[in-house]
Amino acid sequence: MQNPARSLVDWYEREGRDLPWRRTTDPYQIWLSEIILQQTRIDQGKAYWERFVDRYPTVHDLAAASHDEVMKMWEGLGYYSRARNLHHTAKVVSKEMEGKFPDHWSELIKLKGIGPYTARAIGSIAFGNAAAVIDGNVFRVFSRYLADFSPIDAPATRKEYQTQLDEWIQEVDPASFNQAMMDLGAMVCTPRTPHCAFCPLKQGCKGLEKGVVAELPVKAKKTKRKTQYLNFFLVGTKKGQLLVRRRPMSGVWAGLWEIPSVEIGEKEWNQANLDGYELLGAFKHVLTHIDMMIKVYRGAEFPGEPTETQQFIPLDTIDAYGFSRAVLKIFERFLR
Ligand code: ADE
Repeated sequence: MQNPARSLVDWYEREGRDLPWRRTTDPYQIWLSEIILQQTRIDQGKAYWERFVDRYPTVHDLAAASHDEVMKMWEGLGYYSRARNLHHTAKVVSKEMEGKFPDHWSELIKLKGIGPYTARAIGSIAFGNAAAVIDGNVFRVFSRYLADFSPIDAPATRKEYQTQLDEWIQEVDPASFNQAMMDLGAMVCTPRTPHCAFCPLKQGCKGLEKGVVAELPVKAKKTKRKTQYLNFFLVGTKKGQLLVRRRPMSGVWAGLWEIPSVEIGEKEWNQANLDGYELLGAFKHVLTHIDMMIKVYRGAEFPGEPTETQQFIPLDTIDAYGFSRAVLKIFERFLR
């Protein structure tokens, strides 16, 4: 097979997105961008990256920040274990590695919060490692290019793609190759209406030739979604206070603050409104694998089990705490 990496990289140099972390060669700032961009849209990620770089220009600055401040800076981005790992790794790099990130992906991957994708992304972008990244975008681009109907969630498919792409990347600048793949997936080889006429890979694209682009990629299994039914409680607001608590350090929204809530059954959630509480409203909050059905009540006390971290804070200080996006939505709708 001819290596199309050259046309891809030529295209990237002309048409690639102008993103702020592409103007730096500082491994710390590149690492920061890759952690923020895990599961985050570019637009949103940009604003957070700029704030982080501004507040913490070096890994030592980030390492020296308090846990609560980092969580607060992360507020609204979701997947909060990323923020905890970010802070942890900043401290390790600052204290044990003299502030220098390892210069190869096989070492980067040993740091907390850095998986195979992120290690290869940082390795290639910051240090020129010839290591191709694979994510949903790359699977889409590559399966279409090959007109390959193997399920992309099968380990064997990943292995094959990895081997092939690691060969392609040898020929060109690794940073450009990987970021070209990202941009191609985001702008041209898009999930629903790909713009094949403008594609730098259209020459060798088997999917285009066979007219099967729209059918690819193929997945073996569907991801299962779960629905949770939750009652959230605004307690103390009539006295200018708010009952809050900190979430456990593991699981969903680890370490973030929240207002107390209880998970109940679907029937119970649908049927009854709680006696002695004012129902303020209900809405659906969508996470990657969970649909949260949320009802918000106001009352004088929390009807569930109290936890150790539960405490009243003055209502006008809530901006100082890191809350999940679901709780911020509650504040926006029912508090302000
Ligand atoms: N997604 C993850 N890393 C990225 C990068 N460096 N540029 C654009 N999108 C990305």
